[in-house]
Amino acid sequence: MLNRRNLLKLTAAGGAAALFPWERVAAAGSPATGPAALAETADAAPFAQAMPVPRVLRPVRSTRSADFYRMRMKEADAEIVKGLTSRVRTYGGTFPGPTIRARSGREVVIRQTNGLTVPTAVHLHGGHVRSEHDGLPMDTIEPGDSRTYRYPNTQRASSLWYHDHAHHLEAENVFLGLHGTYLLSDREERRLPLPSGRYDIPLAIRDARVEADGTLRYTRPSDCPNMLVNGKERPYFEVAARKYRLRLYNACANRYLRLRFADGAEFTQIGSDGGLLAEPVGHTEVTLLGGERLDVVVDFARYRVGTSVVLENTGALPGERPEVMRFDVVRGTADRSRVPDRLAELPPVPRGTVERDFTLQTFPAMTINGRTYDPERADVVTRVGSSEVWTIRNVDTPVAPPDFHVWHSFHTHLVMFRVLERNGGPAGPTDAGLKDTVTLGPGESVKIAMTWGEYSGQYVFHCHQLGHSSGGQMGRIDVLP
Ligand code: C2O
Ligand code: CU
Repeated sequence: MLNRRNLLKLTAAGGAAALFPWERVAAAGSPATGPAALAETADAAPFAQAMPVPRVLRPVRSTRSADFYRMRMKEADAEIVKGLTSRVRTYGGTFPGPTIRARSGREVVIRQTNGLTVPTAVHLHGGHVRSEHDGLPMDTIEPGDSRTYRYPNTQRASSLWYHDHAHHLEAENVFLGLHGTYLLSDREERRLPLPSGRYDIPLAIRDARVEADGTLRYTRPSDCPNMLVNGKERPYFEVAARKYRLRLYNACANRYLRLRFADGAEFTQIGSDGGLLAEPVGHTEVTLLGGERLDVVVDFARYRVGTSVVLENTGALPGERPEVMRFDVVRGTADRSRVPDRLAELPPVPRGTVERDFTLQTFPAMTINGRTYDPERADVVTRVGSSEVWTIRNVDTPVAPPDFHVWHSFHTHLVMFRVLERNGGPAGPTDAGLKDTVTLGPGESVKIAMTWGEYSGQYVFHCHQLGHSSGGQMGRIDVLP
């Protein structure tokens, strides 16, 4: 059932005031003094807490072909900064939510109950699912209600995630904790000698603002100096001197990350949003915008036991700490894992016959092709099997930091795409493989190719800077049979 309540809120708010939820907060301040003053942020010493690996959710029941889960969305307390208690929104009581480990060919069925006071919609980001199970922005679960989502897992192994998508609320809901990882594996992937088991770890990285009394406050990214990995502020993580597979997620609501090891060490990218690359790619620094994933292998055998290496964000603003987390190499161990030269056979690049153009803009409103999202309007009508080339332009021009609001992260539901070109030249260093989200810096353009299917129905595409999508930088796509 479509829910119009959120839409009405947008129409009522109107214009630029609807851009970012925090601007409504700011509007409550005095027009003379500008935004209402924020409370002091917590004094957070880095590396004060160990990084947790989110627990893997156990099915309540399994059959030959499906695993059944139950999750309840509810408020809970989390210790994000050591010694402080923060009220957060959770899937199942943990911040972030539990990890779902799924296997290609086995269906996952999740009964979600909304025990919060706000509407929610659960979207499996990167999942190829039927429209009614996609967690579309207007297709919400009201407080107190439940709903069952079915994920067929007919796609290849990939690092997916689930998160809130209720229109206008998604940015704040995700920021307050409504996100979790969903790791889909398949036989091809399991056959490779990659680090696995406890050496295969998701890192959900995101900014935050934790105030001195513990309040986790959703506000503009330039007022969010805290950096969390798996829910803890700049944690440390004890590793063995061997290879680890790290699934990097940019789970920030509104900012990009530029990640590197403080010593400049190289790491190996093996996968992207949509699973393994054809072959590994070496990097010393990577830029990820909201929604993007990068699957990397890091060899900690290069460090002596007893030493540490810091992962840092060179995209931190002046005055923010660059550290994201610290890896402490605490023991030696045997390591039979390795990264093969050939990782996977990718499906052929779609040869597009239909071309479409999209421009994304921050000012004067959050728009795609000059329009904000209207759930009653189809922006693209296509068909199952249609191969298309989309040119996406970020027409915002560069500005001085904090410049997060002029970056866009283009995401489509239902399909994975390939990046053909960036700024008229070859695809960029992290554009390889199957993608569902692509970063556009100010003034940049990309050409992407995809084939629509395998389902028909209503879906959306949008900017994954969630403050932008919640402000209407989103379009509806109808896929006809
Ligand atoms: Cu990660 Cu439409 O979302
Ligand atoms: Cu955007």
